[in-house]
Amino acid sequence: MPRATLLTGIGELVTFDPAHDGPLGLVRDAAILSVDGRVEWTGPAGSAPLGDADEVHDARGAAVIPGFVDSHTHLVFAGDRAAEFEARMAGQPYSAGGIRSTVAATRAASDGELRNQLSRFASELRAQGTTTFEVKSGYGLTVGDEERSLRLAREVTAETTFLGAHVVPPEYADRPDEYVDLVVGPMLDACAPHARWIDVFCETGAFDPDQTRRILTAGAERGLGLRVHASQLGPGAGIALAVELGAAAVDHCTYLANRDVEALSGSTTVVGLLPGVEFSTRHPYPDARRLLDAGVRVALASDCNPGSSFTSSMAFCIAVAVRDMEMTVPEALRAATLGGAESLRRDDVGHLRAGARADFVVLDAPSYVHLAYRPGVPLVARTVIGGA
Ligand code: NIG
Ligand code: FE
Repeated sequence: MPRATLLTGIGELVTFDPAHDGPLGLVRDAAILSVDGRVEWTGPAGSAPLGDADEVHDARGAAVIPGFVDSHTHLVFAGDRAAEFEARMAGQPYSAGGIRSTVAATRAASDGELRNQLSRFASELRAQGTTTFEVKSGYGLTVGDEERSLRLAREVTAETTFLGAHVVPPEYADRPDEYVDLVVGPMLDACAPHARWIDVFCETGAFDPDQTRRILTAGAERGLGLRVHASQLGPGAGIALAVELGAAAVDHCTYLANRDVEALSGSTTVVGLLPGVEFSTRHPYPDARRLLDAGVRVALASDCNPGSSFTSSMAFCIAVAVRDMEMTVPEALRAATLGGAESLRRDDVGHLRAGARADFVVLDAPSYVHLAYRPGVPLVARTVIGGA
């Protein structure tokens, strides 16, 4: 027997369904019917198919939004870099080299420690309204450590990304091209079965555009989708390369050139903006306005990692994007939900149209606007995943 649940008494429902109002597909005084974990119907509570429901719940005027889709995290790691953050806030610059200290701690951790940490993070994300999230490897950087990072990540999400090309590990410091050989050879062989995506940190101090092209091409040949970290610390060729190779996502884009915006507009590559990074490294925020005005598709993601952005809060990212990146509240909410789904090339999440997974968040607030209006306040009353 199918199981049908009706949530009624919703003060404000965001669906992204063009059948409803405006760009958010907004319905006031709304209800949502889920059947077997999928959205069956949304609309005004007055016309809800009450008779079809096995269970009825009352949201008592609360706002309901699609679950957040966090398209960029690095949650497989051990160790702590609070001291690095503290020094940065006292004037030290951020350096990609800090990644190596997390690599050492991650290699030294047992599977059990990494698994516990991942499951704690998965709960932390869920409690804050995130219902789909991507997880990258990249703190192992040996065949065995990258393989186990992805194997463990797969236990908490289907959206796993092989990031063996995060930085060149210390043992390969003077022979980076040999490390690239390892990444495209035995490491990719071991990791591809546990990954949906491949990513490269294309940046001075990490991997250059030629190395990036080689690694991404090898991943594509193995059937992995492409993602790129580009132009985080300075301008570079990574964004153009991501577009050229048809990457699903190019993330950071803190330092944008005219030719980058031209390449992105009209492409299918989604830009992942990661305001937690600029917040925690004191780099300037990326020019979201320019991207949006050029018609580029934009996602907001946490980039949760121990170095550059140790937040898992999508609400925080929305608040910063609205306050400091000139995104409107609807644009930021869209980027944190539907935009994340587009970045992961998923059409079953990030919205509440009929047929979507019944992944949604009941807010302890009358409107989605409160996500930006009440920064830092925990507003997630309930996270529903697959109707449960
Ligand atoms: O996305 N840019 C590269 N990787 C991470 C930072 C990792 C770290 O500092 O540990 C990022 O910002
Ligand atoms: Fe990242």
